[in-house]
Amino acid sequence: MNTPNHHIYLDHSATTPVDPRVVEAMAPYWNEIFANNESAHTFGQAAASALEEARQTVADVLNCRPSEIVFTASGTEADNLALRGAAWAARQSGRGNHIVTTTIEHHAVGHTTDQLRALFDFEITRVPVDERGRVAPDDVAAAIRPDTVLVSVMMANNEVGTVQPMVKIGRICRERGVLFHTDAVQAAGRLPLELDNMNVDLMALSAHKFYGPKGVGLLYVRRNTTLIPAITGGGHERGRRPGTSNVAGAVGLATALQLVEDGRVAETIRLRRLRDQLIKGILNAIPESRLTGHPTTRLPHHASFAFCGVEGESVVLDLDLEGIAVSSGAACAEGEAEPSFVLTAMGIPRDWGIGSLRITLGRANDESDVARVLEVLPPIVERLRARGRMCSR
Ligand SMILES: Cc1ncc(COP(=O)(O)O)c(C=O)c1O
Repeated sequence: MNTPNHHIYLDHSATTPVDPRVVEAMAPYWNEIFANNESAHTFGQAAASALEEARQTVADVLNCRPSEIVFTASGTEADNLALRGAAWAARQSGRGNHIVTTTIEHHAVGHTTDQLRALFDFEITRVPVDERGRVAPDDVAAAIRPDTVLVSVMMANNEVGTVQPMVKIGRICRERGVLFHTDAVQAAGRLPLELDNMNVDLMALSAHKFYGPKGVGLLYVRRNTTLIPAITGGGHERGRRPGTSNVAGAVGLATALQLVEDGRVAETIRLRRLRDQLIKGILNAIPESRLTGHPTTRLPHHASFAFCGVEGESVVLDLDLEGIAVSSGAACAEGEAEPSFVLTAMGIPRDWGIGSLRITLGRANDESDVARVLEVLPPIVERLRARGRMCSR
């Protein structure tokens, strides 16, 4: 692929490059310590030790017990295990039939709750968000019923970066005796993951969002939480996630999590400064532009915008021609641009919603990257506007 030298990657909420120290930590587990960790022989035991060491590292970072960590093959799978596992366990014990979630969850949660409703007769209440993408804890409290078995609220939104009031929601769930699941895939390495403070019972993470490998995630499962496995097979991961363990992946996830957590505070300060420069610069330079998501209670690396009267996908493609990689939540369906369900749920008008742009910073970015975006983005938006329709507000 033709990657220009000046290429600037600003799409870290989509995925991150693997930290070279993580690659190095994983290296022995492809063809030296390669055995099945379930095997009784010495080769197998070496793999089993590595897996349990990785689990211990994760537990130390998250301040929980190793037995509360279930390795999965992705963040999506971790969310599926949490939701289906908790819902089916509640069904089996006759505890109830109702799940509370939000209107802005990632599809890993949204489509799983859709399926629980369509195929398994669960009732789903989706709590709305305000125009900044925030859920009101009072709305969660009002949605909980005697037959509610699970509340699922993402810690931070992938598209608009808004961080939810986790401590308050967690307290409500604990007081009402309802399990609390959070999709923290976007939060790891960017926010403190205080399981006890947030009263979280189930939390999904994905290694590739924090400089680890793709295809490995984890679900934190608070002790004494019963889950029915979402997939069936052998007894791996204490019977909660069958399938031969990805030892290299688990080592990679654990190493990445440790590294990202060690550097989190300093990196957060650095990225927040760059993010705020970017936000200020773009809002100043581009007329009819607005920040989407919360202005302050947002992920430190995350800047997202709506530009009235342009198509976000066109902006993404034009920026790509300039060697800058970003993303848009808007998608083209049958030739027509459509705003994302997240912006729609936030009440952003269509003319603005189709012009969405997400810029997510990472370790390799610095002020020169922000300056380059500020140099090339305003003329791109101006050019596209001159070609396109006018904004109808
Ligand atoms: C909020 C959120 N949840 C879940 C996922 C899915 O994670 P994975 O790519 O590991 O399946 C993503 C990935 O984009 C995400 O942003």
